[in-house]
Amino acid sequence: MEVYGCQMNVSDSEIIRGILESAGYRQVDDPGDADAVLVVTCAVREHAETRAIGRLTQLGAGTGGEGRPVTVVCGCVAQEHGSSLLENYPAIDIVVGPDRYLELPDLIRRGRASATGFSPHHYEGVEPVRKTFPRSFVTVMRGCDNFCSYCIVPHVRGRERSRPAADILREVSGLVSSGYGEITLLGQNVNSYRSGELRFPELLGMVSREARGAWVRFVTSHPRDLTDDLVETMSRCRNVCRQIHLPVQSGSDRILSAMNRGYSRAGYLDKIRKLREAMPGIALSTDMIAGFPGESEEDFELSASLLEEVRFDQAFLFRYSERAGTPAASMEGSIPVEVRLERLSRLQEIQRSITRACSAALSGREMPVLIIGPGAKRGLLQTQGRTAGNRVVVFEGRQAEAGRFVLARIGSSDGWTHFADLVRPLGTEEGFEASESWREC
Ligand code: SAH
Ligand code: SF4
Ligand code: F3S
Repeated sequence: MEVYGCQMNVSDSEIIRGILESAGYRQVDDPGDADAVLVVTCAVREHAETRAIGRLTQLGAGTGGEGRPVTVVCGCVAQEHGSSLLENYPAIDIVVGPDRYLELPDLIRRGRASATGFSPHHYEGVEPVRKTFPRSFVTVMRGCDNFCSYCIVPHVRGRERSRPAADILREVSGLVSSGYGEITLLGQNVNSYRSGELRFPELLGMVSREARGAWVRFVTSHPRDLTDDLVETMSRCRNVCRQIHLPVQSGSDRILSAMNRGYSRAGYLDKIRKLREAMPGIALSTDMIAGFPGESEEDFELSASLLEEVRFDQAFLFRYSERAGTPAASMEGSIPVEVRLERLSRLQEIQRSITRACSAALSGREMPVLIIGPGAKRGLLQTQGRTAGNRVVVFEGRQAEAGRFVLARIGSSDGWTHFADLVRPLGTEEGFEASESWREC
């Protein structure tokens, strides 16, 4: 199984593994040894989609006929194109959308079939098989109702559905007792979680209590649903990481409105101000799109200046990509691809120097780090970890076990990666008490 796209796909791939293992399958590393190969796909940009199809064609090609593995397209491209994939790509045998994974064992047995369409379930009763220890993902809601005008996600993931809190808490409690050090609550639009009267801030508070001893994060938040209540809950719960990914998409009100984002530049900046006031040093990241239809040079400058004004620790920058069936794909004022690319590289240039400056400013600081596991670079053994702000930290040699918290002294950095010395192991409580040292950039 190969997994592309966002963390929802990573989380879904754990569900797929759970379903297939209970049906008697096991995962092998070499596709040559597999009876079935699965590619969990992303459709968010054209490039992601082309890559997924290319990979499947490669995996299913060559061998032909008897003995060739069954090739399965899972995820968002499967939902987007459905059974037409079977007609257009002879190398593809099975197409299965994000809500239909329960049918996988049956579909693989049938050999050539398609299952798409949405379902209200949350894969209750499936035990996910995880491979990300000591970090874990817990899906709290599926789907998206926002219909940003450029975005395919609501079309391939369906309407928002929130999972009952009792199920979420049970999963969290199991993870913590198995030694997981980090829990990320997942949803396309995680802070619009709503189950009965229960909203996201209350859920976060409950998870924080249940997960005492582990770090808690959540992704992705929509700026419109970032309430004062949520900011207050984050700042009150000590094991909730002082870190938030808050996609802005553009710095121009005219473009934000054409994107159907539901907030203005000033409104967004106000949320950033509130977050920083409540949690000084909070790590901030964002997504931004360059070259949306109708984006003038002036609009673009507003995006560039927003990056400079906020000084995000990290930004994921994309050039606009048309997605068939979305309103933006038929808007006037399409921007030539060369201009999109040129604007994208200007944004990247700005952000690169901000990220570098933020990283350099951490040199000499001591902060808690969750050990993720061993690594190696050019044959040298390393140990990798993450800070509460989600920065990558690398120690020389084999230092501590995955899942442990340590105090690190940060040295030099390369982009988002910091080289550090291990000062001492931290008791879990002590890690959370060292709240001053949580301040990052
Ligand atoms: N639900 C999340 C993630 C959506 S996809 C959110 O609302 O933020 C992740 C990112 O991909 C988006 O934030 C956006 O910046 C980018 N994206 C989505 N559709 C795109 C498109 N058609 N072209 C370019 N970038 C796109
Ligand atoms: Fe796409 Fe907007 Fe939904 Fe995010 S909030 S998944 S960008 S439609
Ligand atoms: Fe891609 Fe689907 Fe996620 S389109 S971004 S994998 S929800």
